Amino acid sequence: MDSKRRSAGIFRTKSIEESIAETEESEYALKKRLTALDLTVFGVGVIIGAGIFTLTGRAAATVAGPAILISFIVAAFCCGLAALCYAEFASTVPVSGSAYTFSYATLGEFVAWIIGWDLLLELMLGASVVAQGWSAYVGVFLGHLGIELPEVISYGSHFDLPALLLVVVLTALVAFGIKESMRVNLVLVAIKIFIVLFVIFAGISFINTANYTPFIPPAQPAAEMGGSVWTAPLLQTMFGMTPTTFGVGGILAGASLVFFAYIGFDVVATTAEEAKNPQRDLPVGIIASLIICTVLYCAVTLVITGMIPYNEISTEASLATAFEHVGKPGYATLISAGAVAGLTTVVMTLLIGASRVVFAMSRDWLLPPSLARTNLKTGTPVRINLIIGAVVACIAAFTPVGKLEEMVNIGTLAAFTLVSLAVPILRKSRPDLKRSFKVPGSPFVPWLAAAVAFYLMLTLPAETWVRFIAWMVVGLIIYFIYGVKKSRLAQGKDDIPAIDYSGRH
Ligand code: ALA
Repeated sequence: MDSKRRSAGIFRTKSIEESIAETEESEYALKKRLTALDLTVFGVGVIIGAGIFTLTGRAAATVAGPAILISFIVAAFCCGLAALCYAEFASTVPVSGSAYTFSYATLGEFVAWIIGWDLLLELMLGASVVAQGWSAYVGVFLGHLGIELPEVISYGSHFDLPALLLVVVLTALVAFGIKESMRVNLVLVAIKIFIVLFVIFAGISFINTANYTPFIPPAQPAAEMGGSVWTAPLLQTMFGMTPTTFGVGGILAGASLVFFAYIGFDVVATTAEEAKNPQRDLPVGIIASLIICTVLYCAVTLVITGMIPYNEISTEASLATAFEHVGKPGYATLISAGAVAGLTTVVMTLLIGASRVVFAMSRDWLLPPSLARTNLKTGTPVRINLIIGAVVACIAAFTPVGKLEEMVNIGTLAAFTLVSLAVPILRKSRPDLKRSFKVPGSPFVPWLAAAVAFYLMLTLPAETWVRFIAWMVVGLIIYFIYGVKKSRLAQGKDDIPAIDYSGRH
């Protein structure tokens, strides 16, 4: 990168060649062994999770009614647009760290830090939410077998022991080596897809088309549903409107909630460096996993809202309880068991994603570089794995169940917005780079992707915005105290011959 750019302070950018070259430095190197199929499995593994198993019911019952189907389509549209942008980036900058790395090469260090910090929020809280959902399904499953866990250590209590244990075991697995984790993932993903197909095919015969009417329930004041200006969409609060649920507004609010169900395809991009042929395999992995999940979600949503009147759908283990409702408790047991397996893979993949982001940030010395050292035997950044595991285990075990999903969504949507805006910028600044995948219709499609993602952010509750802003302020403080001076670019990497493991930088 030329020195003019380097000297641009917090907007200094890191050249793409530099990013790629670093992945070849042996002690920071991750092993390249994942194929397009591995990546698609990885994507489906992280995408299908608590979103479809629990949020569908909650969103249908409290926000959108049967029209939650449209919410799923709107969210898929938003993700599809962003996926195209992610695919172009991943095929151009095949380096660990996903959106963080892309933005370091285009929008500069400051924006990159913001995105990296934001991704950490998404991935760590996402893993915690799904670990809690896993614990809920474990409770339901054991309940069906006649085993009751003591209330003080189970889902919804002040200390969720099953969630904690899950994160500890998965952290050990991830630290042991990504290929081994992938193998476990493959089996669990197969079980999960089987369960989702089972819900669809077993549920079809119980559909009562009368349940689809009204398809879009009329708008109701949020207060009647126990909501307030803080829990209503920010847009309504901003314009002083009476907060409502259902109606057309409910469809959009539903989209920003069920958006959680699609999160994960972006995580595929965090494994870019471990792909054998990233330029081809990453776009395939990202787009294929998103398409598979969209089809499955729409089918599940149609079945569930057809089986039960929307206002009677359970807000917790909705897929399992739908079958109890139609007199098939045996099916419910099977579905709970499948959900337990299915949610396991999601937590694991989110843990891997979070480690990769921290890895990329420490390799750039925005966080202490000693963290980024990979273990020569396992090829994984073990220290980072352990730190992330400890944080996620604590959040999952001690945080009350409920609002975290929206925090995950706002973080992800913010990253989508920035990544989409960055696509046309990189095309302009580096037209010479090889792009094996290109977003059609640039710059309009990337701009549309950014606008849709930002619009969905505005339909999230005001309280989510406040929490999100607080998290970002903490990130800014860390950057201005540490990263701005210590980063590899700030120190002029060319002048530093070898990588320093002392942790002083
Ligand atoms: N998409 C993932 C899930 O639904 C995060 O659990």
